[in-house]
Amino acid sequence: MIKDITIGFLGCGNVGSGVWRLLEGFGEDIAHRAGLRFHIKKVLVRSLDKQRGITFPEGVLTIKPDDVLNDPEIQMVVEFLGGEQPAYDWMLRALNNGKTVVTANKVAFALHWHELQKAAKKQEVGLYYEAAVCGAIPIIHSLEESLQANRIDKIYGIVNGTTNYILTRMSKNAEDYSLVLKDAQRLGLAEPDPAADVEGLDAAYKLSILASLAFHGRVPFEDVYVEGITHISKEDIRCGQELGYTLKLLAIAKRNGLEVETRVHPTFIRSDHPLANVSGSFNAVYLHGHACKEMMFLGRGAGDMPTASAIVSDLERAASACQHQYPTFQNELNPRVALRHNTDWQCPFYIRMLAKDAPGVLSRVAKCFADENVSIAAVQQNGQRNNGRVALVVITHQASEKAMQRAIAALDQDIAKLESIIRVEEE
Ligand SMILES: NC(=O)c1ccc[n+]([C@@H]2O[C@H](COP(=O)([O-])OP(=O)(O)OC[C@H]3O[C@@H](n4cnc5c(N)ncnc54)[C@H](OP(=O)(O)O)[C@@H]3O)[C@@H](O)[C@H]2O)c1
Repeated sequence: MIKDITIGFLGCGNVGSGVWRLLEGFGEDIAHRAGLRFHIKKVLVRSLDKQRGITFPEGVLTIKPDDVLNDPEIQMVVEFLGGEQPAYDWMLRALNNGKTVVTANKVAFALHWHELQKAAKKQEVGLYYEAAVCGAIPIIHSLEESLQANRIDKIYGIVNGTTNYILTRMSKNAEDYSLVLKDAQRLGLAEPDPAADVEGLDAAYKLSILASLAFHGRVPFEDVYVEGITHISKEDIRCGQELGYTLKLLAIAKRNGLEVETRVHPTFIRSDHPLANVSGSFNAVYLHGHACKEMMFLGRGAGDMPTASAIVSDLERAASACQHQYPTFQNELNPRVALRHNTDWQCPFYIRMLAKDAPGVLSRVAKCFADENVSIAAVQQNGQRNNGRVALVVITHQASEKAMQRAIAALDQDIAKLESIIRVEEE
């Protein structure tokens, strides 16, 4: 016996076209295996004339949101518009009209999860968002269900394919950031406006979602420290490599009791860490739970078909659910009450300076650090003397973020000019 489900699309760009094609090509398998058949009744777009490589039946394409949101026959709405608005308003309207929502939109979801979930619960409809984080990788489902028996205390994610592609090329071929970025744009691996990716915001939205699920408490996007890769030089990557490190844009979430730290920034990790080998546009999430121990998920985090894989799986889950499940949070009503947000995390630091090549310089640098209780683990003098200056690289032991910033501020720039500071994670 086949269950027929009528759905509507909000958007039909890269991801929407992928979902259309996956349902078209794989729909019979789903019907045969799961007894579910999805009928796409309406597809909302901005332009009816745009070429999409799809032959839509007459009357399916529309530019009127109400054709999707107010049609009583449409049971599920799939949202792939992107951005906060109007996506949030339209998802909310769909839920309030009794429709289950499946979304790929990390921005609207991370910012308005609370309101969306409240509406979904009230109407007893589903809210599914696997595709919003790491495309095809089933990390949401794993955190919501398969890893429930764990107290997860650590997540390290490579959750943005664009930046991972750029850093991989810079690391492997010693290429400049701006050249690789241009190439990535030419290849369609970076947006014409790459800011959301290269400035770390995309990763921060995803981390807010992952940390909330893993720690059973809402971690608002605003609480994620964000630093992108725009200032990264091939010089730093090379110096790190000589010290046994690989540079990645990591999304890091740690929980210690009720204290939580969430940060996205370029990070040196040991070159033999499993994440160091995640290259190109691949995504990965490495986590630690008290029972499962270390675990790593690897796969494609973007692209039409990998993302469609997550969306169509969500559609199936939603259509077969006897009762929709919602994540439960310790701080359900106010995202900030239960968990304490820690901004003074501890980690080792990599610091590159251009230092005067003169006696006593190293001891003056060491004193600035020691005054703030930052102890030095290794020092390396790199390269040739240039204008009386040499590159001085210092790796510290674990130090507090704030103490490190104070130590850097106290450096006499005439003696040792700060070139870069990069956090290190030793696993
Ligand atoms: N691309 C990926 O690999 C990927 C991976 C994971 C998640 N996601 C997420 O999936 C979502 C969609 O990404 P995408 O790459 O498919 O974007 P896209 O190619 O830009 O597609 C957006 C679609 O939404 C439609 N749209 C946007 N604003 C609209 C409005 N105000 N009214 C009506 N239609 C509107 C556009 O219509 P027109 O076609 O007429 O312009 C287009 O069809 C985003 O949230 C993104 O973060 C994307």
